[in-house]
Amino acid sequence: MKISLIVAKAENNVIGKDNQLIWRLSSDLKLFKKYTTGHHIIMGRKTYESMGKPLPNRTSIVISRNKDFEVPEGHFLAHSLEEAIQLGISRNLDQVFIIGGAQIYKEAIQFCDEMIITEVQAAPEGDAFFPEFDRKAWKIVHSEHFPKDDKNEYDFNFMIYKRINP
Ligand SMILES: NC(=O)c1ccc[n+]([C@@H]2O[C@H](COP(=O)([O-])OP(=O)(O)OC[C@H]3O[C@@H](n4cnc5c(N)ncnc54)[C@H](OP(=O)(O)O)[C@@H]3O)[C@@H](O)[C@H]2O)c1
Repeated sequence: MKISLIVAKAENNVIGKDNQLIWRLSSDLKLFKKYTTGHHIIMGRKTYESMGKPLPNRTSIVISRNKDFEVPEGHFLAHSLEEAIQLGISRNLDQVFIIGGAQIYKEAIQFCDEMIITEVQAAPEGDAFFPEFDRKAWKIVHSEHFPKDDKNEYDFNFMIYKRINP
C-alpha cells in the first residue's frame, strides 16, 4: 500500500493557527480534492474537528487516544498512526493519504513513500508546523508554479517528493 502525505505549508513551515487553515488558496483546495477523492484519508482528531464533518467522497480514519470518540458510520477511529495504516492494509487499499495535522505529520514522515507539498510563498504567524525533513532522502518528481490571483491569496509551488530508496 502506497502511503502519501499531503500538506500545504508556508516558508516558515506554518500550516495552521487556532486549529484552522490560514490562507485562501482555491487552486490548492482543488488539487487536494483531485488527489484525495475516492481514497481513505488519515488525520488527527484536531484536524477532523476543525473540518466539523468528514469530507465528502472520502473515507476518514481519525486518530485519537480517546476510546469513546465517535465518527459517523462508514468512517473509522484508530488509536495510533500504526493502527490507522494497518486498517488501510487490512482493507486492501492501494493507497492512503495522511492529511495532518502537525502531530500526525511529525510521526508519519518516516512511513511515507510520497509527500505532496504545496509550498506557499508566505510566512504567516501560526501555531501548527510541518516538521523539517531530510531533503537528501527525497527527490522532486513534480514541480508546478501557481501565481497569486483573485482566488489565491499567495503564489505557491505544488511539489511532489518521492522517497529515494537506499
Ligand atoms: N496546511 C495543511 O495542509 C494542514 C493540514 C491539516 C491540518 N492543518 C492544521 O494543523 C492544525 C492541527 O494540528 P495538531 O497537531 O494541532 O493536531 P492533529 O495532528 O490534527 O491532531 C492531534 C490529535 O491527534 C491524536 N493523536 C496524535 N498522535 C497520536 C498518537 N500517536 N496516538 C493516538 N492519537 C494521537 C490526539 O487526539 P486526542 O487528543 O483525541 O487523543 C491529538 O490531540 C490545525 O491548525 C489545522 O488547521 C493544516
